Amino acid sequence: MRFFTSVFVALALTSCAYDRSNLPAVEEHAVAMPDTFSAQAAMDVLLEGGNAVDAAIAAQFVLAVTLPEAGNIGGGGFMTLVMEGEPAFLDYREMAPEQATRDMYLDENGEVKPYNSLFGARAAGVPGTVAGMWAAHKRYGLLPWKRLLQPAVTLAEEGFKVPQALADNVSWYQQKLQKQELIGNFSKYFGHMKANQLFRQPELATTLKRIQTEGRAGFYEGETAQLIHTYMQENNGLINKADLTNYEAAWRKPITVEWNDYEVVTSPAPSSGGVAVAQILGMFSERADDIEQLEHNSAAYLHLMAEISKRVFSDRATYLGDPDFIDVPQAALIHPDYIESRAAEINLTAISDTDSIRPGLAESEDTTHFSIVDQWGNAVANTTTINLSFGSGVVVEGAGFLLNDEMDDFSAKPGVPNFFGAVGGEANEIQPHKRMLSSMTPTIVLHDDKVKLVTGSPGGTTIISSVAQSILSTLYFNLDAEQAVNAPRFHHQLLPKDTIRVHDGFDQQTLNKLTEMGYVLDKRRFGDVHLIKRTAAGLEAASEKSGRGRSLVIEKDQLANN
Ligand code: DON
Repeated sequence: MRFFTSVFVALALTSCAYDRSNLPAVEEHAVAMPDTFSAQAAMDVLLEGGNAVDAAIAAQFVLAVTLPEAGNIGGGGFMTLVMEGEPAFLDYREMAPEQATRDMYLDENGEVKPYNSLFGARAAGVPGTVAGMWAAHKRYGLLPWKRLLQPAVTLAEEGFKVPQALADNVSWYQQKLQKQELIGNFSKYFGHMKANQLFRQPELATTLKRIQTEGRAGFYEGETAQLIHTYMQENNGLINKADLTNYEAAWRKPITVEWNDYEVVTSPAPSSGGVAVAQILGMFSERADDIEQLEHNSAAYLHLMAEISKRVFSDRATYLGDPDFIDVPQAALIHPDYIESRAAEINLTAISDTDSIRPGLAESEDTTHFSIVDQWGNAVANTTTINLSFGSGVVVEGAGFLLNDEMDDFSAKPGVPNFFGAVGGEANEIQPHKRMLSSMTPTIVLHDDKVKLVTGSPGGTTIISSVAQSILSTLYFNLDAEQAVNAPRFHHQLLPKDTIRVHDGFDQQTLNKLTEMGYVLDKRRFGDVHLIKRTAAGLEAASEKSGRGRSLVIEKDQLANN
């Protein structure tokens, strides 16, 4: 048995699992990435003949080195794919450890203990990223696994030039930890980082090399697993070796909905995002025509979307959770009759009473996203996270990577908001091996069976709004990719009552109108969207200007010369 396993591993590490012989003719390809290192790595893979999944794997591991706020091997994520026209969805979300219990973050009076689900080893769920990338490669990879890990290994070993924004984030985070008296090893690993200087991560390089040579087992077994196990034992954490060996990424059926002339392929539970985006687009279409000359980012648009979102977030809090543990009524929540009846309740000119919004079925701030389209028209939308910036703020000693604080995405106590202000109940309570509910919504939109849009975003619960608005901005209001990622976004999630979070950049008149209607406006940063849009002239790729993202398009003629 051992022999066959290692033969198989060796094959997977060196050869191609996916046959591209019957793929259609070569077209241009594009990447929209959260930093320049991942953009370069992904594009190099595409130019070498790799497909969108190969590029995604290379980028994912690079981000674990160059974007420690969110890129990771100690976290998880979701990947939405369309490969040879076939939609697929990979869930590599973290899981609660075996020893997790429902009330593990409550004190003796039943109150939520501050920071317990957000900081330190006990805040971490069992990481899913390496298993996810391994599963994606096994099913679709063209280039050898070893090749795909190489850019990350090199960047960790030889170092990378630290962008100013990363250095600023590290010092902001150190101050935050100090202020809250949260003691861990973050400064030991990242405190010496300096803008524009080389930053090397030797422990992380060694861990990545183990993953490079041993594949999935290089993380979930052997030395890395031992280091995680020991770190947990010494730091009041729960993850043990059995949790690691048993972790599996899951292929799930993506949500696919018809919307206008498009087919939207998006994230199923344990994401709440796909249901939410399908509801938003559906309710929007039901009511948009009732508003005369509906303009992009007008007060009327924001009000309509806020009313829609109230209903969406009420459903989210009640019905959504890990489908391996609870029955998620996904089909009912996106059924056209349900959408129609929910949309019909909306008053287009006045705010509805928050308390009156109930889940509608009858009884019966750092994550990172990237989008890739390869020369064969395959697409990957991948959102990955360790939850908050720099995750739980602690590094596995000896292995050199940050752990997630994803346990905060569970509902620690019914009705008590988590970091993102999201409330939940039984559906999202903590249970061993359960996946915590997510808002991550990597999404691909098809038109006439061809990839039209690849989109996604970080931003906690605001992800849902960012993704829905990126679809509406590009495909309903016809903004180009650059305009769409840079257009100000907004978000409403039922609670706090009548509060719309707004990004900088709305015109004052619009904001005044909303205030007159009774909305409270809360100025906030949103996560940066990275999207690819196909137009008659070809692919457009864009990363939001305010972030450190980078988008590249290689056109057909350039490809031919390559
Ligand atoms: O899965 C989720 O919904 C959250 N853990 C995402 C966290 C996030 O987007 C933080 N970023 N800005």
